[in-house]
Amino acid sequence: MKSKAVEIENFTKKFGDFTAVDNLNLDIYENEVFGLLGPNGSGKTTTLLTIATVYKPTSGDIYVYGHSVTREDYVVRKLVGIAFQDPKAMWIDKPYELLTWHARIVGYSSSEAKKVVQDVMELLGLWEHRNKQFYQLSGGTRKKVELAKVLIQKPRVAILDEPTAQVDVLSKHALWDVIKKLRDEGTTVIIATNDMFEAEKVCERIAIIYKGKLRALGTISELKDSIPSGDLVEVQFEGGGIPEGLLRALRDIGRVEARSSVLKVYVEKGEEKVIDIIELFRRYNVKILRIMVKEPTLDDVFTYITGAKLREES
Ligand SMILES: Nc1ncnc2c1ncn2[C@@H]1O[C@H](COP(=O)(O)OP(=O)(O)O)[C@@H](O)[C@H]1O
Ligand SMILES: [Mg+2]
Repeated sequence: MKSKAVEIENFTKKFGDFTAVDNLNLDIYENEVFGLLGPNGSGKTTTLLTIATVYKPTSGDIYVYGHSVTREDYVVRKLVGIAFQDPKAMWIDKPYELLTWHARIVGYSSSEAKKVVQDVMELLGLWEHRNKQFYQLSGGTRKKVELAKVLIQKPRVAILDEPTAQVDVLSKHALWDVIKKLRDEGTTVIIATNDMFEAEKVCERIAIIYKGKLRALGTISELKDSIPSGDLVEVQFEGGGIPEGLLRALRDIGRVEARSSVLKVYVEKGEEKVIDIIELFRRYNVKILRIMVKEPTLDDVFTYITGAKLREES
């Protein structure tokens, strides 16, 4: 049994009459990178802010290492660290001073704070920005300062709300490595994102949430396999046509689309069926020039489940 870092039980959050999160049930295991994936307005931030004790559940509860966010918020606050979706300047607005102050708050001595702040700022490419004013920082740099807080804190549970939004593509890859390293060092990481590429890159398990409801839960490959005939095997072959017998046999494997010298077979678990397909081509003496298995993307999964697109702007 994997131990649970966070248990979300019948969690509902309403703002007035509006239900932002509707009876969410979800376990997040210790030491995994868990993703909450959904378009804007799905209820991701509301859920994260409740885990971090900023909001109280309207009903249901959330437990962090067994401690209720409703009744033991002071215990939960010691276990979690959060990088907010929209970093705001505080009364201290130079990144170096802000992070040093934060390091002291989470318990570093003055000399330890100096060291950890410099290490983390260098790691994230923030050192050159250390004495700028917050308003001079780009959106991406602000997000990195926000992430730096969590890296300094090394909490048991790190909550990252769209950590790489507004960050340039090169930095995104570096940040994903940093996030995985944080996990390797023992932190459970929860990420909210509407970026399926980010979810694929860093998350081990994913909850797809849409309009406040949980729509799917699993590893990336479980989610992809949940689409019937979700994989595509594409075969480029020699010669002009396909023998009728071969075509019939392929149709027993999956839906077939044949066009001149390229053939597409829609199957479940393409990585297993590809062997059968190769074998059939051999039996009918049709030479394969190229064969590829294409997986559906998480966007395909999302669309299949909800009928909506992931990147619809609210
Ligand atoms: N403080 C609030 N007051 C009223 N409505 C809110 C508040 N916070 C969020 N909402 C609404 O709840 C829904 C979910 O928002 P949010 O959790 O921010 O979604 P996400 O992070 O997935 O984009 C949205 O429709 C949003 O407008
Ligand atoms: Mg959000």
